[in-house]
Amino acid sequence: MTIYLTFADFPPLESDFSAEYLSDFLGEQERIEWDRLKVPKRKREWLSARVIGKKLIHTSIPELEQVPFSKIQILKEPGGAPFVSVENGKRTRIEISFSHSHEHVFAACSPDNIRFGTDLEWIEPRSKEFVEDFFTENEIRRVISSDPDQADLIATVIWSAKEAVLKALRTGLRLDTRKIEIGFTTEPSDREGWLRLEIKSPSRLLWRREGDFVETFCILENPEQDLRWVTLR
Ligand SMILES: CC(C)(COP(=O)(O)OP(=O)(O)OC[C@H]1O[C@@H](n2cnc3c(N)ncnc32)[C@H](O)[C@@H]1OP(=O)(O)O)[C@@H](O)C(=O)NCCC(=O)NCCS
Repeated sequence: MTIYLTFADFPPLESDFSAEYLSDFLGEQERIEWDRLKVPKRKREWLSARVIGKKLIHTSIPELEQVPFSKIQILKEPGGAPFVSVENGKRTRIEISFSHSHEHVFAACSPDNIRFGTDLEWIEPRSKEFVEDFFTENEIRRVISSDPDQADLIATVIWSAKEAVLKALRTGLRLDTRKIEIGFTTEPSDREGWLRLEIKSPSRLLWRREGDFVETFCILENPEQDLRWVTLR
């Protein structure tokens, strides 16, 4: 089984979001969620993630290639985790996870029921207070003992990896971030560009740098799935 991944800029979007424009992209239940969004930045990231998510579904699931975007809906569980419905609002076996940051989206999708989570973070300084509040003792030591020019990267990787795990678990930040401990290894992954992180449990936790971003990816069950990068048109 394969999990398809993509990293993409926000697509060009019409600024007035007319009803006609939105009907090309969104289904009925998505429109209800859209109508609740008030902040323009949030609207843009929400819509961009759906457009990129649906393009990824078209590219990676051949039987859906001809299905219009408005019939493929990316809806939410009560806890916030996304799921995909086609035509009728019911959950399909398709899994999707995405993360948006600084006008970019990192997304993953699979035709099969596999639990995974993605996260995208801009590499930037994290305050001492932030690290002490959210990281474990070992993680704090790892950040403090790193070369000063690596500290921002290492703190960002640890934070991003926690978010990817929390998304794979579908809890999000409701779970204490210190319950998950991220360890660095020197072991490269067998997949191009990915590096492995250590975590207790049979998960596969990977990270890679993409320009000024860190991407992290966690698969909880059946961790040896095939990963394939997709470039969207
Ligand atoms: C999931 C969460 C860790 C994402 O963090 P973030 O860095 O702000 O945002 P990202 O861009 O990386 O990811 C956002 C996407 O995560 C996904 N997501 C949200 N909750 C999720 C959950 N419980 N499980 C898996 N994925 C989730 C959604 O697809 C969301 O995209 P959308 O908002 O456009 O629908 C965080 O928002 C969270 O925990 N949310 C749920 C709990 C909550 O609302 N807590 C309030 C603060 S304690």
